[in-house]
Amino acid sequence: MAVGPARLARGLTRALVVGASGQIGGALCRVLPDTVGTYRSRPGSGLRQLDASDAEAFRRTLDDTGAAIVFFPAAQPNVDWCESHPAEAEAANLEPLRVALAASAERAAFLVAYSSDYVFDGTRGPYRETDPVSPISVYGRIKVRLEEETIAAGAAVVRTTVVFGFETGEPRNFVLRLLRSFARGESVKVPTDQVGTPTYSDDVAGASGAIAEARAAEIWHVAGPDRMSRLELARRTARAFGAREALIEAVPTSALGQLARRPLASGLRIEKLRERFGITMRSVDAALADLRDIIERHE
Ligand SMILES: NC(=O)c1ccc[n+]([C@@H]2O[C@H](COP(=O)([O-])OP(=O)(O)OC[C@H]3O[C@@H](n4cnc5c(N)ncnc54)[C@H](OP(=O)(O)O)[C@@H]3O)[C@@H](O)[C@H]2O)c1
Repeated sequence: MAVGPARLARGLTRALVVGASGQIGGALCRVLPDTVGTYRSRPGSGLRQLDASDAEAFRRTLDDTGAAIVFFPAAQPNVDWCESHPAEAEAANLEPLRVALAASAERAAFLVAYSSDYVFDGTRGPYRETDPVSPISVYGRIKVRLEEETIAAGAAVVRTTVVFGFETGEPRNFVLRLLRSFARGESVKVPTDQVGTPTYSDDVAGASGAIAEARAAEIWHVAGPDRMSRLELARRTARAFGAREALIEAVPTSALGQLARRPLASGLRIEKLRERFGITMRSVDAALADLRDIIERHE
C-alpha cells in the first residue's frame, strides 16, 4: 500500500531546519513534527537566528536543540545572481554547508542537503539518480560540488525541482508569484519550452522526513509525478484559483533575457523514492487544490 509522506514522517526524531525562513525550510517545519527552525536575515515566528557559516554558533544551536537530524535547505538559490557572481555564489552556497556537515558529523546528527535538476543540461529529461550530471550554469556546477561533498560526508542529498507551495511573507515560488500578478491584473510572460516535474513543497518535506529517518545517505529524486511546461503549470494555476488565463503570455525562454541557461527538457524521475519508501507525491492539480485550501484558511 502506498503511504503518503505525512504519515511516514510521524514519529520523526527531533530535527533542526536550517533556512526555515525559506520555502522548503518553511514546509519542513510545517509538515514534520518536532522541528526547530532557523532564519538568517528574515525573522519568523518561533525561529532562531543562525548564520550557518559561523561554526561556533552552529555547534551551539545543535547542542541547545539536541537535534539528531539536520535538514539543510539553506542556500542562495537565485540562479541568475549565481551566474553573475560565481565566486560569491560558491562561498554563499558551499561554506555554510561545510560548517553544517562538520558540526553534524561531530555530534552524529544525520544531515539532508538540497540540490536541483540544474545538475543536468536539460537535453534528455526526466532524469534518474544514476544519470550522469552535466550542469550548464554556475548554480548547477555549485550543486554538483554540494552533492559530492555531502555524499562524501555520509549525508543525504534531496534533488528537487520547480517547488511550489505555501509561503509567508514575500512570495518566492512561481505559483505564488503568478497568483500575486493575477490578483493585480498584471500579465505574466511564461516560457513554453521549460518542461519539468513541478513539486509540492509539503511533499518535499514529507519525503525528506522519510529519508532522514532511514538515514539513507544517497542521492534521492523528490519531485511531482506530472511532467509539464511552465506554461501548462501557469494555466492549471489560473484554473485552480479562478484567475484569468488571458493574463498568461506564452513566450520562449529565449525571450525572457535570463542570464543563466536553463535545463529545458528536464524533470526528475522518482521510481527509486516510490520503491524504497512507497511515497506518493501529489499531482499538480491535487497540490494546487491543497494550496488553495491552506491560503483560504490563512485569509
Ligand atoms: N525552490 C525550488 O524550486 C528549488 C528547486 C530545486 C532545488 N532547490 C533547492 O532547495 C533549497 C531550498 O530552496 P528554497 O526555495 O527553500 O530557498 P529559499 O526560499 O531562498 O530559502 C533559503 C533559505 O536559506 C537561508 N540561508 C541562506 N544563507 C544562509 C546562511 N548562511 N545561514 C543560514 N541560513 C541561510 C535563508 O535565510 P534568510 O532568508 O532568513 O536569509 C532562507 O531561509 C536550495 O538548496 C535550493 O537550491 C529549490
